[in-house]
Amino acid sequence: MTAYMLWFANHLNAFRVAEFESLASLLAIDFQYIEEPSDKPFILFTSEAGDEKLRQLMSRTVLARSLYELWTNSSDLDQFPEDVRNSPHIHLPQYKWSSFRIQVEGYNKKLSIAAKVEKIENIAFLPFEGKIDLRDPNYSFHLFEYYGNNPNEILETPQQILFSRHLFDSNRKNVSKFSLKQRKFIANTSMDPMLALLMANIAKISSGDMVVDPFVGSGSLLVSAAYCGAYVMGTDIDYKLIHGLTKPSRASVKERDADESILSNLKQYNLQNRYLDVIIADSSQPFWRTTGPALQLDAIITDPPYGKRESRERVGSERQYTIPDELIDGHIPSKVEYSICDIFGDLLAFSARHLKIGGRLVFWVPFSADKTDTNFDISRECHPCLRVISISEQQLSTYMSRILISVEKFIEYTEMMDKSCDNNNKTHNKSINNSEK
Ligand SMILES: C[S@@+](CC[C@H](N)C(=O)[O-])C[C@H]1O[C@@H](n2cnc3c(N)ncnc32)[C@H](O)[C@@H]1O
Repeated sequence: MTAYMLWFANHLNAFRVAEFESLASLLAIDFQYIEEPSDKPFILFTSEAGDEKLRQLMSRTVLARSLYELWTNSSDLDQFPEDVRNSPHIHLPQYKWSSFRIQVEGYNKKLSIAAKVEKIENIAFLPFEGKIDLRDPNYSFHLFEYYGNNPNEILETPQQILFSRHLFDSNRKNVSKFSLKQRKFIANTSMDPMLALLMANIAKISSGDMVVDPFVGSGSLLVSAAYCGAYVMGTDIDYKLIHGLTKPSRASVKERDADESILSNLKQYNLQNRYLDVIIADSSQPFWRTTGPALQLDAIITDPPYGKRESRERVGSERQYTIPDELIDGHIPSKVEYSICDIFGDLLAFSARHLKIGGRLVFWVPFSADKTDTNFDISRECHPCLRVISISEQQLSTYMSRILISVEKFIEYTEMMDKSCDNNNKTHNKSINNSEK
């Protein structure tokens, strides 16, 4: 068993565990936590997965910064040199004559150069005889000192001292190439590219998958799913938006270009061969057949409307009327408000029916930051076919947050299940409704 330290960027911290566990599951990486993940900037685990799988994990993650082979994990500064001395790694022959460097970093405490040098001298007994190469060494060793997370209470001595060998950096810097600033087609609620990729990771999307976003908007989630190799498709009720006929979302731009579309976005990243289609459709009325074998999806990722910056509508009318046959062609149906509870009930029912076993639905739920009525355990019971995998919160403002939920289908769907789902959804809806007040 090798011990590892996964070091994270200081961003979207609440999503780290969900992303790590999802990618590990996708890549069939068995692991055990050395200590339960917490608000520390690292996750420590052991695994026999080997370098290649871990390299793949690092090429997918958008939250982790670097992966290290963990040599020692000390909680006492005085004990630390002894722990290093006792580490079997230090005597391995490959390190003896290779060039190397040792980097020292304090988390939540800036260490002076003199302090860093002193810390390196503390472990000068290391049996490394190779050249010190600060630019391009064969091996890079890292001494991390963790001084807690509270910038207002910086500890005198570190809580944890970790000595490790650097293995891989992640590709998270590549996310900038998906920046919405350069995106051909955006709308008012286009999803931030890092969050879109995070959703694809939590949904375990991989090459050849078939992925749908039922509230597709400008298709940001399709871009991330296609980047992970999926064939993508979406639906949205807003004809004008999908056809690039709404007002431009960029303040400085007066008119949209003629070719603004989701397909253009995919072309922009050379992902057009992953595009299946986008259909104008109301998610409250699924149009895929409900008899015979159901359409099977590998994943559904979506950001349903919150009713703040975009409308929540479904086809319907308060009145009862019949449209004469001769007027059906070209008829534009009237719409009524699509309540938040119906949106989630329909989405879960759709996912229960159309996901393959093991397939994931990853979706956002708006929530008030006033936690008094938060009870997301309730969503664990949302549909008998689905089980909750992760719930992670993103604070949007003092009063508003949103929660990213991932659920996984684990048993086959039968229509009988919709009955029990109705009851569960009523409770689930009550909780979501409360948060809207
Ligand atoms: C939050 S936006 C999605 C943004 C999208 N993820 C993006 O990156 O552009 C929600 C979308 O749901 C659509 N919508 C609202 N009601 C709908 C319905 N009944 N069926 C399908 N789409 C609907 C809206 O038109 C809007 O585009």
